[in-house]
Amino acid sequence: MEPFTWMSTQAKQKAQRPSELFKDGIGMRRPVQGTVARGFLPYAFTGNPDAAGRSLLNPLPMTKDVIERGKAGFLTYCSPCHGNFGAGDSRLRGQFPNPPTLHSDKVRNWPDGNIYHVITEGQNVMPSYSSQISRDDRWAIVNYMRVMQRAHNAKESDLK
Ligand code: HEC
Repeated sequence: MEPFTWMSTQAKQKAQRPSELFKDGIGMRRPVQGTVARGFLPYAFTGNPDAAGRSLLNPLPMTKDVIERGKAGFLTYCSPCHGNFGAGDSRLRGQFPNPPTLHSDKVRNWPDGNIYHVITEGQNVMPSYSSQISRDDRWAIVNYMRVMQRAHNAKESDLK
Protein backbone atom coordinates (compact mmCIF):
# COMPACT_ATOMS: atom_id res chain seq x y z
CA MET A 1 0.00 0.00 0.00
CA GLU A 2 1.29 3.44 -0.91
CA PRO A 3 0.74 5.59 2.19
CA PHE A 4 0.45 9.20 1.04
CA THR A 5 -0.15 9.87 -2.63
CA TRP A 6 -2.05 13.12 -2.32
CA MET A 7 0.72 15.28 -3.66
CA SER A 8 1.39 13.13 -6.69
CA THR A 9 -2.26 12.61 -7.57
CA GLN A 10 -3.61 16.09 -6.83
CA ALA A 11 -4.71 18.35 -9.67
CA LYS A 12 -1.75 20.55 -10.57
CA GLN A 13 0.03 22.26 -13.40
CA LYS A 14 3.24 20.62 -14.61
CA ALA A 15 6.03 22.43 -16.46
CA GLN A 16 5.79 22.40 -20.28
CA ARG A 17 2.24 20.99 -20.19
CA PRO A 18 -0.92 22.55 -21.63
CA SER A 19 -3.58 23.99 -19.35
CA GLU A 20 -7.28 24.49 -19.73
CA LEU A 21 -7.24 27.14 -17.06
CA PHE A 22 -5.78 29.82 -19.29
CA LYS A 23 -7.31 31.17 -22.48
CA ASP A 24 -4.18 30.57 -24.55
CA GLY A 25 -3.97 26.94 -23.38
CA ILE A 26 -0.37 27.33 -22.16
CA GLY A 27 0.40 26.21 -18.61
CA MET A 28 3.68 28.05 -18.10
CA ARG A 29 3.04 31.74 -17.70
CA ARG A 30 5.26 34.58 -18.79
CA PRO A 31 6.24 37.15 -16.16
CA VAL A 32 3.91 40.15 -16.12
CA GLN A 33 5.28 42.83 -18.43
CA GLY A 34 7.71 45.07 -16.60
CA THR A 35 8.52 42.46 -13.95
CA VAL A 36 12.05 42.75 -12.57
CA ALA A 37 13.53 39.57 -11.09
CA ARG A 38 14.85 39.97 -7.55
CA GLY A 39 18.55 40.83 -7.63
CA PHE A 40 18.56 41.75 -11.34
CA LEU A 41 18.31 45.26 -12.70
CA PRO A 42 17.54 45.52 -16.40
CA TYR A 43 20.58 46.56 -18.46
CA ALA A 44 20.05 50.19 -19.37
CA PHE A 45 22.53 50.45 -22.26
CA THR A 46 21.30 47.88 -24.76
CA GLY A 47 22.60 48.86 -28.20
CA ASN A 48 24.39 51.87 -26.76
CA PRO A 49 28.07 51.14 -26.03
CA ASP A 50 29.06 54.81 -25.84
CA ALA A 51 26.50 55.54 -23.14
CA ALA A 52 27.70 52.45 -21.24
CA GLY A 53 31.28 53.76 -21.44
CA ARG A 54 30.23 57.19 -20.21
CA SER A 55 27.85 56.09 -17.47
CA LEU A 56 29.02 52.82 -15.92
CA LEU A 57 31.56 52.79 -13.15
CA ASN A 58 33.46 49.65 -12.24
CA PRO A 59 32.17 48.80 -8.73
CA LEU A 60 35.05 46.42 -7.90
CA PRO A 61 38.40 47.42 -6.40
CA MET A 62 41.75 46.33 -7.90
CA THR A 63 42.47 43.80 -5.18
CA LYS A 64 44.28 40.48 -5.46
CA ASP A 65 41.04 38.54 -4.88
CA VAL A 66 39.18 40.42 -7.60
CA ILE A 67 42.06 40.07 -10.05
CA GLU A 68 42.28 36.33 -9.42
CA ARG A 69 38.54 35.99 -9.93
CA GLY A 70 38.86 37.96 -13.17
CA LYS A 71 41.73 35.78 -14.30
CA ALA A 72 39.68 32.61 -13.77
CA GLY A 73 36.82 34.13 -15.78
CA PHE A 74 39.08 35.34 -18.56
CA LEU A 75 40.82 31.99 -18.94
CA THR A 76 37.46 30.18 -19.02
CA TYR A 77 35.42 32.42 -21.29
CA CYS A 78 37.68 34.74 -23.25
CA SER A 79 41.03 33.06 -23.82
CA PRO A 80 39.69 30.43 -26.27
CA CYS A 81 39.30 33.29 -28.76
CA HIS A 82 41.45 36.20 -27.54
CA GLY A 83 44.40 34.07 -26.34
CA ASN A 84 45.69 33.46 -22.81
CA PHE A 85 47.17 36.96 -22.60
CA GLY A 86 44.57 38.74 -24.71
CA ALA A 87 46.85 39.19 -27.71
CA GLY A 88 44.33 37.75 -30.19
CA ASP A 89 46.56 34.75 -30.85
CA SER A 90 44.41 31.81 -29.72
CA ARG A 91 44.38 28.59 -31.68
CA LEU A 92 41.13 29.77 -33.31
CA ARG A 93 43.18 32.18 -35.40
CA GLY A 94 42.34 31.57 -39.04
CA GLN A 95 39.28 29.40 -38.32
CA PHE A 96 36.92 32.13 -37.16
CA PRO A 97 36.86 35.87 -37.84
CA ASN A 98 40.13 36.74 -36.11
CA PRO A 99 39.50 37.86 -32.54
CA PRO A 100 41.30 41.18 -32.09
CA THR A 101 44.06 41.87 -29.62
CA LEU A 102 42.85 43.46 -26.38
CA HIS A 103 46.06 45.51 -26.22
CA SER A 104 45.14 47.96 -28.98
CA ASP A 105 45.19 51.68 -28.16
CA LYS A 106 41.46 51.62 -28.79
CA VAL A 107 40.65 49.09 -26.06
CA ARG A 108 43.32 50.44 -23.68
CA ASN A 109 41.76 53.89 -23.89
CA TRP A 110 38.18 52.65 -23.57
CA PRO A 111 36.54 53.33 -20.21
CA ASP A 112 35.82 50.13 -18.23
CA GLY A 113 32.14 50.49 -19.12
CA ASN A 114 32.82 49.88 -22.82
CA ILE A 115 34.56 46.57 -22.10
CA TYR A 116 31.78 45.59 -19.70
CA HIS A 117 29.33 46.41 -22.48
CA VAL A 118 31.06 44.12 -25.01
CA ILE A 119 31.01 41.23 -22.50
CA THR A 120 27.34 41.93 -21.73
CA GLU A 121 26.06 42.37 -25.28
CA GLY A 122 28.74 40.91 -27.51
CA GLN A 123 30.02 42.78 -30.55
CA ASN A 124 29.38 41.62 -34.12
CA VAL A 125 30.44 37.93 -34.20
CA MET A 126 31.42 37.89 -30.53
CA PRO A 127 28.39 36.59 -28.61
CA SER A 128 26.92 38.02 -25.41
CA TYR A 129 28.14 36.46 -22.16
CA SER A 130 25.38 37.96 -20.02
CA SER A 131 23.73 34.63 -19.29
CA GLN A 132 26.99 32.82 -18.46
CA ILE A 133 28.99 35.42 -16.52
CA SER A 134 27.52 37.24 -13.52
CA ARG A 135 27.74 41.03 -13.38
CA ASP A 136 30.43 41.01 -10.73
CA ASP A 137 32.46 38.43 -12.63
CA ARG A 138 32.26 40.62 -15.76
CA TRP A 139 33.70 43.56 -13.84
CA ALA A 140 36.39 41.30 -12.36
CA ILE A 141 37.33 40.25 -15.92
CA VAL A 142 37.60 43.93 -16.87
CA ASN A 143 40.03 44.44 -13.98
CA TYR A 144 42.09 41.44 -15.08
CA MET A 145 42.20 42.83 -18.63
CA ARG A 146 43.61 46.07 -17.19
CA VAL A 147 46.29 44.03 -15.41
CA MET A 148 47.25 42.28 -18.67
CA GLN A 149 47.30 45.59 -20.54
CA ARG A 150 49.60 47.14 -17.97
CA ALA A 151 51.90 44.10 -17.99
CA HIS A 152 51.99 44.21 -21.80
CA ASN A 153 53.07 47.84 -21.74
CA ALA A 154 55.27 47.74 -18.65
CA LYS A 155 57.36 50.81 -18.00
CA GLU A 156 60.70 51.06 -16.27
CA SER A 157 58.91 52.54 -13.24
CA ASP A 158 56.77 49.40 -12.87
CA LEU A 159 59.90 47.47 -11.86
CA LYS A 160 60.37 49.48 -8.68
C1 HEC B 1 33.94 33.10 -29.79
C2 HEC B 1 35.16 33.89 -29.73
C3 HEC B 1 35.21 35.00 -28.70
C4 HEC B 1 35.09 34.89 -27.33
C5 HEC B 1 34.89 33.62 -26.53
C6 HEC B 1 35.26 36.21 -26.79
N1 HEC B 1 35.46 37.11 -27.80
FE1 HEC B 1 35.75 39.09 -27.59
N2 HEC B 1 35.73 39.30 -29.61
C7 HEC B 1 35.70 38.27 -30.53
C8 HEC B 1 35.72 38.82 -31.88
C9 HEC B 1 35.74 38.02 -33.18
C10 HEC B 1 35.72 40.23 -31.72
C11 HEC B 1 35.69 41.27 -32.82
C12 HEC B 1 34.26 41.59 -33.09
C13 HEC B 1 34.10 42.68 -34.13
O1 HEC B 1 34.41 42.42 -35.29
O2 HEC B 1 33.69 43.78 -33.76
C14 HEC B 1 35.75 40.48 -30.28
C15 HEC B 1 35.79 41.75 -29.71
C16 HEC B 1 36.06 42.00 -28.38
C17 HEC B 1 36.32 43.31 -27.82
C18 HEC B 1 36.34 44.62 -28.61
C19 HEC B 1 37.69 44.76 -29.27
C20 HEC B 1 37.72 45.82 -30.34
O3 HEC B 1 38.83 46.17 -30.74
O4 HEC B 1 36.65 46.27 -30.80
C21 HEC B 1 36.55 43.15 -26.49
C22 HEC B 1 36.89 44.22 -25.46
C23 HEC B 1 36.41 41.73 -26.21
N3 HEC B 1 36.11 41.08 -27.38
C24 HEC B 1 36.56 41.17 -24.97
C25 HEC B 1 36.21 39.85 -24.69
C26 HEC B 1 36.13 39.30 -23.35
C27 HEC B 1 36.48 40.07 -22.08
C28 HEC B 1 35.73 38.01 -23.48
C29 HEC B 1 35.42 37.03 -22.38
C30 HEC B 1 34.32 37.41 -21.50
C31 HEC B 1 35.58 37.74 -24.90
N4 HEC B 1 35.87 38.87 -25.59
C32 HEC B 1 35.22 36.52 -25.44
C33 HEC B 1 35.64 36.93 -30.24
C34 HEC B 1 35.43 36.40 -28.98
